[in-house]
Amino acid sequence: MRNLTQDNITQAVIARLAETPDPRLKEIMTSLVQHLHAFARDVKLTEAEWLQGIEFLTRVGHKTDDKRQEFILLSETLGLSMLTVAMNNDKPAGCTEATVFGPFYVEGAPSFDLGEDVARGAAGEPCEVRGHVRGLAGEPVPGAEIHVWQADAEGKYDVQRTDVETHQARGVLHAARDGSYHFRTILAEPYPIPDDGPVGDMLRATRRHPWRPAHLHFMIKARGYETLITHVFRNGDSYLDSDAVFGVRQSLVADWVKQPDGKYLVEYDFVLNPGGEPR
Ligand code: BEZ
Ligand code: FE
Repeated sequence: MRNLTQDNITQAVIARLAETPDPRLKEIMTSLVQHLHAFARDVKLTEAEWLQGIEFLTRVGHKTDDKRQEFILLSETLGLSMLTVAMNNDKPAGCTEATVFGPFYVEGAPSFDLGEDVARGAAGEPCEVRGHVRGLAGEPVPGAEIHVWQADAEGKYDVQRTDVETHQARGVLHAARDGSYHFRTILAEPYPIPDDGPVGDMLRATRRHPWRPAHLHFMIKARGYETLITHVFRNGDSYLDSDAVFGVRQSLVADWVKQPDGKYLVEYDFVLNPGGEPR
């Protein structure tokens, strides 16, 4: 095929995918080419702008390593992560809503007994978190595996710090026989997503801020239920309506109440969707 024009190159590229053996890959590649070409036509992309885009993506790749996932930040700030979560977690009414996973979960976090302090020295005001894990019919989910992780008072996750070698402000707990859980930690505070890379440049160029409202991350796994990946957000936070990664759901906002002894308390009940793979 020679002398392709701007009017027939899209079909020519799609035709080149005809022999793709995996039908899903063929579908995704075909749609990607269609939308990518449509985007270039829509904005009448210049060669200089195309090069700028290539250079931007190159910087995103160079910024990425085992501690920093700039591509996830790009996906999150473009709303692609939340769109994907929303499309794939259309749970029945009454189930706890899912939100973005984020780049700061790590495997191998320490296990704690109920009531223990997962902060392990992370800076922040003391806080207790408690509630229940239940199924959609209200049944308790005993032994549900509760993964929790959060940033410290300076807005940093342990994996972002160069001065701590141990896990801090993250851990794994198991719900009691009645589905209840409780643990101690530090108060969740708002923090900016890492903005010292190309994604930060993109935010500044578009006059966007990098802040996320205060939240705790949860991943809850239990046999017979879909795994839930979510956050609990702190009511009253000024970034609830402008989360840099579009992750807020009203049903995930809870009150962090200061107790007479000065410690904070937040209570949140999770409702899991029955189904999922047995573990
Ligand atoms: C987080 O909440 O940990 C997070 C989510 C998306 C991008 C950066 C951080
Ligand atoms: Fe977070």
